[in-house]
Order: sequence, then structure tokens, then C-alpha cells
Amino acid sequence: ASILVLHGPNLNLLGEREPAVYGATTLSDINTRLEQLARSSGHHLLAMQSNAEYELIERVQQARPEGVDFIIINPAAFTHTSVALRDALAAVDIPFIEVHLSNVHAREAFRHHSYFSDLARGVICGLGAQGYEFALQAALSSLEPA
Ligand code: DQA
Repeated sequence: ASILVLHGPNLNLLGEREPAVYGATTLSDINTRLEQLARSSGHHLLAMQSNAEYELIERVQQARPEGVDFIIINPAAFTHTSVALRDALAAVDIPFIEVHLSNVHAREAFRHHSYFSDLARGVICGLGAQGYEFALQAALSSLEPA
């Protein structure tokens, strides 16, 4: 199967950005780990980060003709603002899991609402970088036997 991992704005700074909130693991550490896990179970995983809303939207739109089977997305700050990215995920109708490194519910009130959670297969938050691995395990078990 083919899995797409999308990271939203400022996640390129992981490791140096507010490490007390987001941890010391870098984005490339996360992506490398996910690629290894997917490969070791015979699947293909592609990761992309962008600070631009339209680039994430275009990537989601492309996922359908490309035959992506599952999306794992941390929309970052767009979680709380982007009707457009939500609409893109609804349009392509590819199952997705929403991931947040931090426990958004234990933070400022403006982080409590997500434009994605009601469309997501599941939501993982507060478990740091490991949350992406749990999401991948869930994605793979929902796709198998591929
Ligand atoms: C985040 C939480 C968001 O509220 C924040 O804007 C982020 C990262 C997380 O992974 O914890 O950039 O999605």
C-alpha cells in the first residue's frame, strides 16, 4: 500500500522549536523511522512538509490520482484554521489519521478545536513523535492484507 505523511507549518523546526512542548526529535528522524517501518512491512511511505496551505492542499489533491491508500497528517496550526485543507481531505475521500505531538487539549483554548477530527479515522495527540508510529501501525493494520 501507499501511505502519505503530511506535516504542516513550522514542523520543519522540530527539535529546535519549543522542545519542552514538541520534543527533541527532528522531522527527518520521524520521517526516516516511518519510512523504515513501512518498508519493513512491504509498504511504501512518502512524507512531505510545507509551511504553505496551498501546497498541502495540492498534495492532498494529487494523492487521489496517485493511488495513495492512507494519509497521516499533522496539520499543525492549520488544524485550527483551515477549512480549505479540510475540504481537500473530504474531496479525495482517502482515510486519514490526525496526529499532534502535543496534547492540544491541555493547551490554549484556540487549540481545542480541530477542523479535521470529525472526518478523521482517528486522532492521536500528546504522545510526541511516537504518535506518528502508532498512527502508521493503525493505518497498516487497517490496510492489511494489502
Ligand atoms: C501541533 C499543535 C498545534 O496546535 C500547533 O499549532 C502545531 C503543532 C502539534 O503537533 O502538537 O504547530 O499540531
